[in-house]
Amino acid sequence: MDKREFKPISVDLKKGKTYHWCQCGQSKSQPFCDGSHEGYFCEPLQVTVSEDQTKKLCTCKKTKTPPYCDGTHRNL
Ligand code: FES
Repeated sequence: MDKREFKPISVDLKKGKTYHWCQCGQSKSQPFCDGSHEGYFCEPLQVTVSEDQTKKLCTCKKTKTPPYCDGTHRNL
């Protein structure tokens, strides 16, 4: 994927559920981990929220506020 094509993905996060946000960028199930990091020096970031909420999750993997988009993708 061309880096200019990265955009955040809006996701409904459920209270108390643990999510695994892909940090390596190899997952085919963005923005979540699908196990494709095997062989990379990378592990997914575990995320749990305290209340149901809709958030934009980063797919460019350059955000400074992982797993949430901070707008960095616009400058890639
Ligand atoms: S997708 Fe927006 S900062 Fe990564």
